[in-house]
Amino acid sequence: MREIAVVFDFGSQTSQLIARRIRELGVYCEIVMPDISRDELLRIGPAAVVLSGSPASVLEPGHPEMDPALLDINVPVLGICYGMQLLSKMLGGTVEKGENGEYGPAEIEVVNHTGIFSDMEYNLDVWMSHGDHVVKMPEGFKVLAGTPACSISAMGNDNKKIYGIQFHPEVVHTPRGKDILRNFLFRIAGCKGGWTMSKFIDESVGKIRNLVGDSRVVCGLSGGIDSAVTAALINRAIGDQMKSIFVDNGLLRKGEADEIRSIFTGDYPLNFLVVDAKHEFLDALKGVVDPERKRKIIGEKFIRVFRKEAEKTGGAGFLAQGTLYPDVIESRSAFGGASATIKSHHNVGGLPEDIGFELLEPLKELFKDEVRVLGRELGLPERLLSRQPFPGPGLAVRIVGEITEESLSVLRKADMIMQEEMVRYEKYEEVWQSFAVLLPVKSVGVMGDERTYDNVVALRAVTSLDAMTADWVKLPYEILGRISSRIINEVKGVNRVVYDISSKPPSTIEWE
Ligand code: XMP
Repeated sequence: MREIAVVFDFGSQTSQLIARRIRELGVYCEIVMPDISRDELLRIGPAAVVLSGSPASVLEPGHPEMDPALLDINVPVLGICYGMQLLSKMLGGTVEKGENGEYGPAEIEVVNHTGIFSDMEYNLDVWMSHGDHVVKMPEGFKVLAGTPACSISAMGNDNKKIYGIQFHPEVVHTPRGKDILRNFLFRIAGCKGGWTMSKFIDESVGKIRNLVGDSRVVCGLSGGIDSAVTAALINRAIGDQMKSIFVDNGLLRKGEADEIRSIFTGDYPLNFLVVDAKHEFLDALKGVVDPERKRKIIGEKFIRVFRKEAEKTGGAGFLAQGTLYPDVIESRSAFGGASATIKSHHNVGGLPEDIGFELLEPLKELFKDEVRVLGRELGLPERLLSRQPFPGPGLAVRIVGEITEESLSVLRKADMIMQEEMVRYEKYEEVWQSFAVLLPVKSVGVMGDERTYDNVVALRAVTSLDAMTADWVKLPYEILGRISSRIINEVKGVNRVVYDISSKPPSTIEWE
């Protein structure tokens, strides 16, 4: 049986980060909702359980809880921040509101150098973020570390193998955090580790073969890394039983279709087909301005193309998608923890309810950076793996307002300049996404002696770990200035360029 750790997600921003750190240590890890039943937890059979932090307080009514019976399955438990406070409350300790709380960097003094603090220094830099703290530990616990503001910063019960830490070991601001997690997993929970991408490939190949049997699979390639890695993985499992379809929907960036064609017919040959459906998509989008309508139309068209192509070779049972773990988590949280339905818009635009295929989503346990590692392991070319994410609905969600051949052409040229300059200044791979957006706004300008009345282009560059949150990039003025003057000089129809300095939340990455 596969060794697995689980993280109970109490709503913290860093639950996913905890899972990633654990996987980086070679232990496969999944996130579960705290309302999971004891039977379900036993079915998963974790070797270790971690309780995440939370924006909630155990002192306020309605805070997220878990069934204490879940602690009673003879598996080591580590509570982080809120997780520690919840453990205390459940096991008979006392939690109180601190006078000022502790937010940001702190130094803990380690008073017990066994277990999770084995081989640690006496003083450790850690990252704190809490208002409440444990003032009385449950029976059988001892103090492992403290700060002047919080005398019980870490506690443990070696008999029950239950531990609590007030700080966040998963963030980079806790330099020894990963070692603390390592101690918990390997010394306390007895994990063996060794979960690697090549193991993941072996497991997935077996699962895909079992699931698909003699059926056929269509895989929608978008040119992005997720769908490419999905196709490569399924190809490894079932070869030509899968047909990969790249739809040229007229909403692609400059040169995109040619590049993808050259990769999948040259460097990495697949059972691959480019379908030219430009007119079909653009005709259907005529006059449409509402972003969700755009997505819906695009989703329907994609499915129509996939169906038509599948029928040509005797039909297909499965549609493969590059859904990732954050998509699953995001939709699960969005539906109150009750459902694992995938947000359909995340991959090929707003999919219709009845798509007429079963979905095959072999990456849905992985994080984005793991997908890159997997792609490398599967031998995909680096020029594909280093591409920034590109949304399924393509430039349609980067033209605010109506999509026309003319607006697409303007945006393509502006976007190309942005990409060229990002590469030239070696910023392209540093950022999560960088692109241009065409606004439905005209403004007055002057070129030579002439008055102009032309379009505005917005530039957007963000850093992000998984697109759930994002920060705008502080691009040097020199780069912004160069991109702006090149766009205004080289792209007919644009006389003004602005830079988007909004973060997500409350904005989103795309403008639509
Ligand atoms: P937002 O704009 O929601 O985007 O912050 C988050 C990430 O998702 C991408 N995105 C999409 N990808 N279909 C996709 O395949 C879509 O409809 C879609 N909308 C946004 C976006 O580029 C960013 O990486």
